[in-house]
Amino acid sequence: MYRHSGDSSIPLSNVNYQQAPGGQNTPTFGSVNEKAYATPKHKRRVWPWVVGAIVAVIIILGAVLGGVLGSRAANDDNSKSNVAADGAVQAGSGVASAATRTKGSGNFAIVPTATDEFGNPMYPSSTGSARIASPTTFSNSSLTCTADDSGSVSLDNPKSTHPLLIATENRWSCLPNLIAADSYMSYWNDTVFGNASRYYDMSPTNYSVDGGLTGSGVLDVAREVQLRIKHWAYAYKLSNDTRWVDRTWRELIVASGNDTTQYFGEAGDNWNTGHFLDVAEFTEAFAIAYDWMYDAWTAEQRDAIAWSIINLGLNYGLTAYTDESVGYQWWTKVQGNWNCVCNKGLAMGALAIVNEYPNSPARQVINYAVDNANAMCSYAPSPEGTWSETPNYWYFGTYSHAELAASLLTATGSTQGLLTTNPGVKLTSLYHMYVQGQQGIFSYGDAGPNKYTATANHLMFYGSQFDEPLYTLYQRDRGDAPDPMSLLYYDPQVSGQFWEGLALDRHFDNTTDGWFSARSSWTDNDGAYIAMKAGYLQGHQTHGDLDAGTFVLDAMGHRWAGELGSGDYLSQGYFLSEAQNSPRWLYYRKRTEGQNTLMIGDEDQNVDGRPTTGFGTSGEAQDALDYKVANGSTAYFTADLTPMYNSTSSANRAIRFVNGRKQVLLRDEVTTTAAVQWRMHTNATVTLSNSDRTATLKLGDDELVATLRSPSGATFGTEAAERESSDPTTTEYDGSTVTMSADQPNPGVTVLTVDVAAGTNTIEVLFNPQWSGWSDGDFVDPPDVAIADWSVTSHN
Ligand SMILES: *[C@@H]1O[C@H](CO)[C@@H](O)[C@H](O)[C@H]1NC(C)=O
Ligand SMILES: *[C@@H]1O[C@H](CO)[C@@H](O)[C@H](O)[C@H]1NC(C)=O
Ligand SMILES: *[C@@H]1O[C@H](CO)[C@@H](O)[C@H](O)[C@H]1NC(C)=O
Ligand SMILES: *[C@@H]1O[C@H](CO)[C@@H](O)[C@H](O)[C@H]1NC(C)=O
Ligand SMILES: *[C@@H]1O[C@H](CO)[C@@H](O)[C@H](O)[C@H]1NC(C)=O
Ligand SMILES: *[C@@H]1O[C@H](CO)[C@@H](O)[C@H](O)[C@H]1NC(C)=O
Ligand SMILES: *[C@@H]1O[C@H](CO)[C@@H](O)[C@H](O)[C@H]1NC(C)=O
Ligand SMILES: *[C@@H]1O[C@H](CO)[C@@H](O)[C@H](O)[C@H]1NC(C)=O
Ligand SMILES: *[C@@H]1O[C@H](CO)[C@@H](O)[C@H](O)[C@H]1NC(C)=O
Ligand SMILES: *[C@@H]1O[C@H](CO)[C@@H](O)[C@H](O)[C@H]1NC(C)=O
Repeated sequence: MYRHSGDSSIPLSNVNYQQAPGGQNTPTFGSVNEKAYATPKHKRRVWPWVVGAIVAVIIILGAVLGGVLGSRAANDDNSKSNVAADGAVQAGSGVASAATRTKGSGNFAIVPTATDEFGNPMYPSSTGSARIASPTTFSNSSLTCTADDSGSVSLDNPKSTHPLLIATENRWSCLPNLIAADSYMSYWNDTVFGNASRYYDMSPTNYSVDGGLTGSGVLDVAREVQLRIKHWAYAYKLSNDTRWVDRTWRELIVASGNDTTQYFGEAGDNWNTGHFLDVAEFTEAFAIAYDWMYDAWTAEQRDAIAWSIINLGLNYGLTAYTDESVGYQWWTKVQGNWNCVCNKGLAMGALAIVNEYPNSPARQVINYAVDNANAMCSYAPSPEGTWSETPNYWYFGTYSHAELAASLLTATGSTQGLLTTNPGVKLTSLYHMYVQGQQGIFSYGDAGPNKYTATANHLMFYGSQFDEPLYTLYQRDRGDAPDPMSLLYYDPQVSGQFWEGLALDRHFDNTTDGWFSARSSWTDNDGAYIAMKAGYLQGHQTHGDLDAGTFVLDAMGHRWAGELGSGDYLSQGYFLSEAQNSPRWLYYRKRTEGQNTLMIGDEDQNVDGRPTTGFGTSGEAQDALDYKVANGSTAYFTADLTPMYNSTSSANRAIRFVNGRKQVLLRDEVTTTAAVQWRMHTNATVTLSNSDRTATLKLGDDELVATLRSPSGATFGTEAAERESSDPTTTEYDGSTVTMSADQPNPGVTVLTVDVAAGTNTIEVLFNPQWSGWSDGDFVDPPDVAIADWSVTSHN
């Protein structure tokens, strides 16, 4: 399956590469592309080999095998290996031979036929004769690249030959063999070459400032340049074709600010210290160009590239580490993505040139970067792996953490503690997996800028380093997998299915970030997913919301309860602080009003409150592709939100699956001296009936019926997803009055509400997705159980 028409004899232009929905600047990175969300239900990105004539082969294979296992173009070269390292079949010169091979009792994998708009793999409807197994590693010497033999290296004595960043020459020269043996790698290689060619034809990246140099600066520009250079350098290493080098040189001249015809920033600060991420990402781009293409550059070119690395990057980096008086050093003190990105870029720049330029700041920068990243970046995940900022910022932080660790491994022989200092680093891959719902990420807080270079492909690096084949298998089937980094990180000596034996539910119980995730299946993208969070509202690098108790609900291929995402980053005071009086909390999408939780006394939640959480699960792990949970299967989460509110003597919230994860029950028990409003944001159209105690939500052709079971006097209401006229527009902050900028509109979003007066109240809502083929009799009316009495069996 992972082999297709990209046979080496077919010119690049004949390969049918599917365009990302948003065009070249908005690649579909799993669930993180805002534009991708907007595509209708079931819009899928067919993996490129499932095109044209190949489709016919797939369908026949599917019919014959009951599982789509692989194909190659009919004119394929049969002398190549037909079975991937993981066992995925490549159909050779015809269906019959594939079928014959597949019928053998080999270690054949089940592979996706496509990915959906969230990057989720879409598997065939049955496993056919594929052998289903838990994630495992195997060893095969022909798939093992020999270790680097450049002598003993250490932090003090880094590798002196190139390439030394992320992959050494041994890995590069081994790649063609791996690509020939593994259908995933073959597909990624073809895609990377295709993208490299596309970038080749573009004019050099323009210097385009987003919201001022201290706003979002030129971060997108830096990441675009880095993305291109990674692709061109990869293409050069695999082809030895110097046209990739020449095109890179053209880009470097411009991005160094030296092309007099194309403005590229203020001379001497072209990489923009005013927004230091930009400096770091440019430095990495130049470091990769310098290091991966080292043998192709003339001595003058090397000096020229190193000149930029030193003068536009490392000099400022050294100042950041050593001079408290400069404003741009603040990131050295934070446990979040900025620290990872900045240390990574500087360290990669320094490692690339340290041997040839011993009198540059490179030596010092390496030491500072390693120490600082170990103290800060490595602690951005909590002890159980939750990223300190948001699930979207996880991408920037961890892709950088992994690039730094991988570069240190190849250049100094060790990851220098980055993987082990904090045990949460090992678990942060699980955080990423569980925070993905069937309809995209549980996207609480800010979503961040464009992803460009930030994929989740470093799960494959973590997978190898931690010997967790689960991480590798999870990521290689996903939509963002085709990328140069995958080819460098992936160890093909893994087999099995990521979902086999994988627990459906997980509780992350640290009070800084308590949350949970529960689902009906890892492979049925039309199944059910619920996730709720209740954590401390500070300590998120000003990327969080006032959202304790907020939740998302996916079912039947739709997100029924969802998050609003980022506000405009350039809004007045948006990033000023997380204090109660911060201007950030004036914005609808950030204040409690804009979350799927309770609002009490029309006020925001208390930023000093520390909610506590509880959890129960019937404990299933998926064990088949067409896995169906038992009727008693459930998971629930409880949150004591009392400390989050004033005028409140108690506020408890709990959510659970009932009826074999086909229905969802949400219960709140509150005792307050102020009125309470229950709020849920939905893209569905909402119709109220039954004296406003039933809300019918409609998305596409599907419906979800919400029933207000308690309190008896209350009703559902609907509101626009926008601020109340009584909400404040100014705040007294740090001695001055800050007036908010405009809120972003939330078109198409309706707030479903329930209002109750002060006093003691139970608000309970039952969500019944109208599953196809289900009738009224299939739904249960669960018993009325106080949250304190909830258990795994309490609602059977
Ligand atoms: C690479 O190419 C594929 C296939 O055309 C496309 O779907 C993907 O978005 C591209 N990736 C990047 C990072 O541009
Ligand atoms: C990588 O892909 C390119 C473009 O499709 C192809 O020409 C090349 O042969 C591939 N490399 C290997 C090792 O298969
Ligand atoms: C090892 O991998 C190679 C390349 O894919 C394959 O030809 C060979 O059969 C494998 N050996 C074993 C023992 O599986
Ligand atoms: C850069 O700007 C020039 C002039 O406006 C334009 O012609 C070119 O296409 C732009 N390049 C890119 C990559 O957008
Ligand atoms: C590129 O050059 C290297 C080193 O000389 C060589 O091992 C490799 O086979 C060459 N690759 C191609 C595709 O020509
Ligand atoms: C850019 O200009 C600087 C300063 O003149 C020079 O040292 C460097 O070699 C130039 N770099 C490139 C890539 O042209
Ligand atoms: C919770 O996470 C925070 C932030 O990572 C950490 O400082 C704290 O020690 C953790 N608490 C527990 C109980 O693990
Ligand atoms: C509505 O859909 C958008 C885009 O499709 C998504 O990002 C958002 O989370 C959804 N909003 C809600 C409230 O479900
Ligand atoms: C809750 O009351 C405390 C004490 O009066 C006050 O400091 C805090 O700002 C109030 N919280 C909110 C959200 O208004
Ligand atoms: C599970 O529930 C469904 C629908 O309520 C019912 O049709 C089915 O018989 C139940 N199965 C078992 C094993 O109880």
